[in-house]
Amino acid sequence: MKEYYTLNNDVKIPSIGFGTWQTPDGETAINSIKIAMNYGYRHIDGAAIYGNEKGVGTGIKVCGIDRKELFVTSKVWNSERGYETALKAFEKSLKDLQLDYLDLYLIHWPATANKFTNWQQINSDTWRAMEQLYNNGKIRAIGVSNFLEHHLDPLLENAEIMPSVNQIEFHPGYKQNDCVNFCRDNNIQVEGWSPLGRGKVLGNATLKEIANRYNKSVAQLCIRWAMQNNVLPLPKSITPNRIKENFEVFDFNISESDMELINEMDEFGGSGLHPDHIEF
Ligand code: A2P
Repeated sequence: MKEYYTLNNDVKIPSIGFGTWQTPDGETAINSIKIAMNYGYRHIDGAAIYGNEKGVGTGIKVCGIDRKELFVTSKVWNSERGYETALKAFEKSLKDLQLDYLDLYLIHWPATANKFTNWQQINSDTWRAMEQLYNNGKIRAIGVSNFLEHHLDPLLENAEIMPSVNQIEFHPGYKQNDCVNFCRDNNIQVEGWSPLGRGKVLGNATLKEIANRYNKSVAQLCIRWAMQNNVLPLPKSITPNRIKENFEVFDFNISESDMELINEMDEFGGSGLHPDHIEF
């Protein structure tokens, strides 16, 4: 298993990202970043809406790892869609994170037909801001999050720069095969948010049985399973032993038949957050 994937613009991205959704700002954010970087993570996945970019930024500053060795992601929130607003949102995230560039910046959720008649225009306008920031050297790669095929199609039609990443919910109970295949065909790296189903898939009996075969935890199985499907997992934890456990996934290989068993599992433990139906 590679420690890095290479994006469609040749930028290297570490193959596990440290998730920060629901990590409280302040000491908890600072300490969890320090602990994760100490255990070997080099990739931090954040977003403005998580409300913890100041703590995450301080963690990055004091963790002792050279900035160039780290891969830092943020996302533009739904209220900041559009060209000018997205540019401003980027500057705010950069300031909070106390950084002078980002490795990856994503549109957090697509504007959709359920909410906007001009949803395609809104997404394209936001994308133009991302392209400008990329061209100005402020971001090393740009992408989207929670975009399904029908959101990506019009964006790709109007884009000058192709998205490098699409970050979607991905775990053994929620696989979004159509979207993953579409991204693969279009050379877009899929990242998986909530690779542990927010903890909800960890009690599953089938997953427990498979994990036992490798002397691994279900969390480790889920993370490795995502990687072997070429999806980049972003496990979140603020608990030191779990942070460590979630990175100890480079020393085993899930067999083809076990991959198949998980790939064929029915849906369970999904968040229920569908981009066309979210209320935020
Ligand atoms: P905590 O942060 O309190 O350690 P996901 O990444 O799928 O969103 O899941 C995150 C949730 O799963 C958090 O509630 C986190 O709790 C918990 N979690 C993370 N890693 C593990 C693990 N190895 N074992 C059990 N629970 C975990």
